Formats: sequence, C-alpha cells, structure tokens
Amino acid sequence: MYQSGCPAAVLLLVAGAVLALSGHCVARSDAPRGVALGFVFDPKAQCETRCAHGGICIRNNTCLCSRGYEGESCQLATCYPKCKNGGVCLRPGKCRCQPGYGGRYCQKVTCDGGCWNGGECSAVNGVPRCICPSSWTGSRCQEALCPQGCRNKGVCVAPGICSCLDGWLGGACHTAVCAVPCQNGGKCISPGKCRCRPPYSGARCEEKNKTY
Ligand SMILES: *[C@@H]1O[C@H](CO)[C@@H](O)[C@H](O)[C@H]1NC(C)=O
Repeated sequence: MYQSGCPAAVLLLVAGAVLALSGHCVARSDAPRGVALGFVFDPKAQCETRCAHGGICIRNNTCLCSRGYEGESCQLATCYPKCKNGGVCLRPGKCRCQPGYGGRYCQKVTCDGGCWNGGECSAVNGVPRCICPSSWTGSRCQEALCPQGCRNKGVCVAPGICSCLDGWLGGACHTAVCAVPCQNGGKCISPGKCRCRPPYSGARCEEKNKTY
C-alpha cells in the first residue's frame, strides 16, 4: 500500500519507541484514497481520530493506513478485487455478498436451493434464475415437461413420461382400459365403460336391441 523512503523510521513508530529522528523523511503513498502524493513524517503529529487497524499518524490528522485499509482514520477495509454486485467489504479480502450472489468477490450468481436436472444459475436482469434444459421447467428446473401432455389426471414424472391413473394407458394416458373387453365393436371410452354400436347395448355391449 505504501513505499517508504525510511522503513526503519516506520518500524520505530509502529513499535512506539521514542524517536530521535533528525527532521523528516519522505515517502510516497499509492493508497486507494486517491492520487499518489508525497508526504512528510512528523514524529509529533497528532490525529484527532485515532488511526485504526495499525495505521500511522504521519502528520496532524493524517493517517497512513496499513495494507487493506483506507479512509480518513483507516476505518474502512478494502477488498481487491472490489466486491461485486453490491457486496460489502467486511475486512481485507473478505466480502459480504448480497442475497443471490456468492464467491470470494460476490462475482458468482447463486440460485437459492440450486438448479436441478442440469439447469444453470444465471442473472436475468440482475435477478438470479435457473435456466433449464428444454425438457425441464420450474424455478429450480424440478418439473419435467411432457410435450404430448398427460391426460386423465396423469402426471409428468420425467421428460416425455406420464404416470397414469389406474384404468388409463398410453404415452399421454389417453387410452382407457376395460378389464372385460367391450363386445360387438363397442369402444372402451373410460375405465370399465363401453360405448356400444347399434343395435348393441349393455355394460359390455353384449345385448342386442330387439327393435332393430
Ligand atoms: C500539530 O498539532 C499540534 C497540536 O494541535 C500543534 O502543536 C503542532 O504545531 C501541529 N503541527 C503542525 C506541523 O501543524
């Protein structure tokens, strides 16, 4: 953070030893406060607000901060790289991230609960979202998609796979099952129910209507 023309003097100041320095020495600062500037150590300097985090009072009310801190009295921690996405620097190199962000510098988007089934977490207009593979949907890509649809209260359990209620079959649960087959060309239209062709009737289309 700083290079000193007189490192021994700095060490003495840090140790709190009595100084018998003749005059001043010059150093340069590249502290993140702003423009690099030359400065002068004054052994008698007083800083109204104590220099925090090991900072050194080098002139009246001027602190030279130790690595990782900045601000008038070195009260602010610095993070390099800077905390991204609204994260706050807690102590040197340690960011506290906004919800939805993670990683050392809050540079990573995190989706609460994660993304399942190969979904990828990504920021969409600044909001973390799971981007799902084509056959999955839902906030975490937890819901399978059945493009054919699952009819008759069937449930899509995996991409393209319906789980059907008893009495229904087929990829979309669209085929009714009649345990006793419909007779005389009748059609099974729902579980156990036949639609008969004239002149037949009855539960299994087994009766011939006499009027015909
Ligand atoms: C620093 O402050 C002290 C006390 O206020 C004062 O006596 C001294 O002259 C000041 N030094 C400089 C270089 O201004």
